[in-house]
Amino acid sequence: YQHEMGLVDVVLDRHLPPAGPGKKKPARQVLEIGCGPGLRLAVLRQMHGKYEPEGLDYDPAMLALARRRVRGVPLHEGDMRTFSLETRYDAILCLFGVIGYLKNLADLTTALRNMREHLVPKGVFLLEPWLSPDAVINGYLHADSACRNGLEVTRMTYTRVVGNKSRIDVHYLIGDKSGICHVDECREMTLFTDEEYRTGLRDAGFGDVVLDAYGPQGRGLYPAQV
Ligand SMILES: C[S@@+](CC[C@H](N)C(=O)[O-])C[C@H]1O[C@@H](n2cnc3c(N)ncnc32)[C@H](O)[C@@H]1O
Repeated sequence: YQHEMGLVDVVLDRHLPPAGPGKKKPARQVLEIGCGPGLRLAVLRQMHGKYEPEGLDYDPAMLALARRRVRGVPLHEGDMRTFSLETRYDAILCLFGVIGYLKNLADLTTALRNMREHLVPKGVFLLEPWLSPDAVINGYLHADSACRNGLEVTRMTYTRVVGNKSRIDVHYLIGDKSGICHVDECREMTLFTDEEYRTGLRDAGFGDVVLDAYGPQGRGLYPAQV
């Protein structure tokens, strides 16, 4: 996450006035959409007073985890299509393909417009796309594992392509000294095309935004500014 947010920091520096603690260089107010358990918020908060991060997610269970991780960081429960906050942000981040949770182009445009309306003039919106139909691999299998404080977790994912959706079966084996349990879920994410992202961004009022090839997860990044 440090590496990813380092890249985000570099991109924001390119588009926004210098920031930092102190009167002359106020901290940047940043909202992360789909913040989940707050891993990226934690990194932003560590950047020496340069950012005042806030998070938004529609899942209260995720927000409860984030609340434990980043005490004092404002967290909002809401859907990216409909949330309404009073603050206008210097930057809004929609990273890690969270945008792929939206079902269709109409929802995509609605969400992008709503996020744009929460930016200050010249504010920046960074959109990291989910996989495109060209990049997704039907039948892709992946496994990884992590271990901390006596807890071992192995996650295996299997991706199927159905129309313009990726259906990802995710299975977790979670073990500690009391035994092993198995949890699984299926995530369905939309494989928007580059043209759809650009149309959505244009219709939301961001103008013509071109995908930067270099992005946090290797899928590029749309840097949009109002
Ligand atoms: C794959 S998780 C990523 C979480 C976090 N960004 C991370 O990398 O750890 C996707 C997150 O987006 C949230 N989410 C999905 N659709 C959303 C929506 N329409 N509005 C707000 N949050 C949403 C989910 O609740 C979930 O926490």
